[in-house]
Amino acid sequence: MTSRTCRASCAAGVSASAPDRGPDHGPDQGPDRPDPWFAWIWQRLAPRLEQRGLADHRAWTVAGLAGRVVEVGCGDGQMFAHYPSTVTEVVAVEPEPRLRARAAQAARHAPVPVTVLPGRAEALPVADGSCDAAVAMLVLCSVEAPRVAARELRRVLRPDGQLRFCEHVRAATPLGQRLQRSLDLAWPHVGGGCHTARPTVTTLAEAGLTPQRLERFAFPSRLPTPTLPHVRGIATPRG
Ligand SMILES: C[S@@+](CC[C@H](N)C(=O)[O-])C[C@H]1O[C@@H](n2cnc3c(N)ncnc32)[C@H](O)[C@@H]1O
Repeated sequence: MTSRTCRASCAAGVSASAPDRGPDHGPDQGPDRPDPWFAWIWQRLAPRLEQRGLADHRAWTVAGLAGRVVEVGCGDGQMFAHYPSTVTEVVAVEPEPRLRARAAQAARHAPVPVTVLPGRAEALPVADGSCDAAVAMLVLCSVEAPRVAARELRRVLRPDGQLRFCEHVRAATPLGQRLQRSLDLAWPHVGGGCHTARPTVTTLAEAGLTPQRLERFAFPSRLPTPTLPHVRGIATPRG
């Protein structure tokens, strides 16, 4: 979505037009990305990850937020319970229809108002500069066009807004990176599009978001998985 297109069509702060196509874009796609296999897996895997500490990372990621928030790739809505009461509205975007239906159920019990919409991170259905915060939790590994998604996150934030993110990322060592790159030939096909080797912090910085308060950690800490290196942090719009 270009800024001009959005300004013209986002009168209510919500739109559903086409993505801002850049050098790193996937094929033209609508707001739905059905993946029943991943939806089935995620609903069984996520509760185990919560018990291993994911709930704490969720709470950290949204702590202190206020005002209007857009959450990209909300899955089945596990984040909703963690939003503080200072958040006045969450627009939660999810392309997988089964997970989105579960998220809509979770929204009914959320402590803050949550609207669940179909859509992709590459074409967020919200107007330019209309959000106080954006939240990306374990999702930038899976989007088809991470550079486009990062620019979208930048676009929807107010100048004084902030992105909160918690993502698994590229390994620190050359050997780890080589292993991840090899694995990424197959992993996305069984893992809902998840890539293990993405340099997400760099991608955000290149999109005009300045990463701050970065905390790197291994998760889940006792399992030697290719998605072990994680980073959580804040990124603020530049310029
Ligand atoms: C690992 S799950 C995480 C779900 C949720 N953020 C959470 O923390 O429970 C990844 C999510 O990204 C979603 N996703 C995949 N491609 C996407 C895209 N292009 N835009 C937005 N979300 C996407 C998937 O449907 C899935 O819900």
